Amino acid sequence: MTTKIAYLLCIAMLAVTGTAYADKPDEATQKAAARKAADLCSACHGPGGNSISPTFPRLAGQRQEYLENQLRAFKTQKRGEPDAHDFMWGIAASLDDKMIGGLAYYYAAQPPARGIPGDAALIARGKDLFDKGVPSKPLPACSTCHGMNGEGIGEFPRLAGQHATYMVKQITVIQSLLRAAPVMHGIVKEMNRAEMEAVAAYLQSL
Ligand code: HEC
Ligand code: HEC
Repeated sequence: MTTKIAYLLCIAMLAVTGTAYADKPDEATQKAAARKAADLCSACHGPGGNSISPTFPRLAGQRQEYLENQLRAFKTQKRGEPDAHDFMWGIAASLDDKMIGGLAYYYAAQPPARGIPGDAALIARGKDLFDKGVPSKPLPACSTCHGMNGEGIGEFPRLAGQHATYMVKQITVIQSLLRAAPVMHGIVKEMNRAEMEAVAAYLQSL
């Protein structure tokens, strides 16, 4: 039942917001964004957005709509967890709408690096949770919104290959409302640490 509600919510959200972005920027904007990515963003997010440090989320192959939303949320300071404040507010403040669109387009087009393997039993538990949720709790399947293989759908972010410690940190700050993400908050509010670590290990391995 809960999964069904989550699914309907997805469809509703996509219907409301799904067509607003994903434009192709003009040539000059594409070039300027690629330069900005190489000169500034790559220092933390790695070349082409494939960061190797778990402090910095991978951006390669991330959904264009999601990237745009997040850059706007940093710029307006709506995404307010401590690392967003410390690392991204200042940078996003310097980006205009055109550059935000260009950077989102650039990173969405970069090929994502392979995932990072880990403990097989933990990964198997995580896959089960991702595919089916935890029926005894109000914890629906993640695949409904994030895609069967964690590849993301529309505004729902790609999670495949993302750093596990980054994802556990995000679920924690969403739970504690430091990062305002109302849809995800409702989904993960009863998730415990062991469940977070399992699902994150699975996703990181993809
Ligand atoms: C000094 C290091 C640093 C630089 C430079 C930097 N970032 Fe970030 N970025 C971070 C950190 C750390 C986070 C994670 C913040 C958090 O945990 O909330 C982040 C998060 C993000 C996210 C959210 C990813 C997600 O999965 O939600 C996007 C998008 C992003 N950065 C884009 C950029 C772009 C584009 C640039 C260049 C214009 C850039 N960043 C430059 C450190 C950096
Ligand atoms: C009803 C749809 C929905 C379901 C189901 C869902 N999510 Fe999400 N998730 C979202 C949305 C929307 C966001 C982006 C929030 C924002 O805009 O800041 C998100 C963001 C995330 C992020 C942060 C990604 C990043 O790059 O910072 C993680 C991690 C995550 N979800 C994990 C999960 C896990 C694990 C599950 C299953 C227990 C799950 N989600 C189920 C909608 C959903």
